[in-house]
Amino acid sequence: MSKLWGGRFTKQTNRLVEQYTASISFDKLLAEEDVQGSLAHVSMLGKCGILPEEDVEKIKEGLHTVLGQIRRGELEYSIENEDIHMNIEKQLIDEIGPIGGKLHTGRSRNDQVATDMHLYLRKRVVEFVGLLHDLQEALLEQARANQETILPGYTHLQRAQPILFAHHLMAYVSMFQRDIERLQDSYRRINVLPLGAGALAGTTFPIDRHYVAEQLHFDSVYENSLDAVSDRDFIIEFLADASILMMHLSRLSEELVLWSSTEFRFVELDDAFCTGSSIMPQKKNPDVPELVRGKTGRVYGNLMGLLTVLKSLPLAYNKDMQEDKEGMFDTVETLQGALKLFAPMIATMKVNREQMRDAVNKDFSNATDIADFLANKGMPFRQAHEVIGKTVLYCIQNNKFLLDLKLEEFKQFSSMFDESIYDVLQPEAVVNARNVYGGTASCQVTAAVVRAETRLAATADWVVEYTEKSK
Ligand code: ARG
Repeated sequence: MSKLWGGRFTKQTNRLVEQYTASISFDKLLAEEDVQGSLAHVSMLGKCGILPEEDVEKIKEGLHTVLGQIRRGELEYSIENEDIHMNIEKQLIDEIGPIGGKLHTGRSRNDQVATDMHLYLRKRVVEFVGLLHDLQEALLEQARANQETILPGYTHLQRAQPILFAHHLMAYVSMFQRDIERLQDSYRRINVLPLGAGALAGTTFPIDRHYVAEQLHFDSVYENSLDAVSDRDFIIEFLADASILMMHLSRLSEELVLWSSTEFRFVELDDAFCTGSSIMPQKKNPDVPELVRGKTGRVYGNLMGLLTVLKSLPLAYNKDMQEDKEGMFDTVETLQGALKLFAPMIATMKVNREQMRDAVNKDFSNATDIADFLANKGMPFRQAHEVIGKTVLYCIQNNKFLLDLKLEEFKQFSSMFDESIYDVLQPEAVVNARNVYGGTASCQVTAAVVRAETRLAATADWVVEYTEKSK
């Protein structure tokens, strides 16, 4: 089969070279975007008088025919045609004859592939914001249902201070909000058109890049042709955003795994989201969060991979850059899988309120509050800390918790103690005493939920607007 670029060659390409250099096995995922970009490009060629309108119409029709074949799975890709761009162009020529060869006027695969990836990634970014919105919604739903649920809060994975379960969940809502904002911000840098940069230096044809940008809803056009074809920052940025997002998901995953263990029993994941063991009949394993935790590694790997590919690459296009795709596609797939499962898994998760409460009753997570009690009575906090340290030690030695102590026992440690200490030490009192903006007090958490609901509505609007814009 003759190559689209075969003119200056005297020999057939070595078969192994063909296999080694072809990208069609993975860049076929860019088929829709490739046709979309070509349609805008050829319209522009007509509008600028570079191609006669009848050729433009023929090419457009041909492109639609090829797109139909691709969608129906009828187009057989070949590695002889190396990548998606040449497979489509070749098929176009097969369909409409040599006129199809006019499509590539004033264009290079270098600006073409970059355009395809910009088109592809901006759609995915909008989808991810939508999926994050759904996950936040599921977390909010659980938070609303657990505004009175108290559990131990941890530092060093040691019980620290009691908190509302809603407060804990809302921490993740905040993290995912930053992920949303990062993705939304990155959209500005993705939504820039490289087409028209040619191979690297621009083109001799009197093209209109801004017209193409308008057709494809790009906000702007790359200012420098070398940069346009060499830039993969927007993919690196996406992989970085994805890495941070996966890091958040893996932290939540780890907590779900811990919380669903018999040792904690704080939550139970729905049967539909767990799997069993082939040998141990009693097992119900939290495979989904475990796998999300595990897959975080491959997303980080994809980020490091692309950073390393781009490191020290001279301008402009180098074949190395073909390595930008698999990591991006893999990250998209990994993220989609995780996010699509997480929202319903959180929504259906059963919360064992009694078990959480029981844990709070059997710990010293109210110790800070009696130190604060003494400090409020005028004892320097550092001294109060020491006094309560001794009180806790006494409890541990006598197998008691703070609320089990009689007033006389308290008084052994300080004469400042009085009956009101028993109210101060109640978990509800401990939680509600943290009535500071961003704290775990019930009214603060309620306010945080309301703020999050407002943001959620704004995100939903953004998704609708940008889905339209990214088509
Ligand atoms: N398949 C190539 C890639 O993904 C397309 C660009 C090829 N350009 C070239 N001059 N060989 O990077």
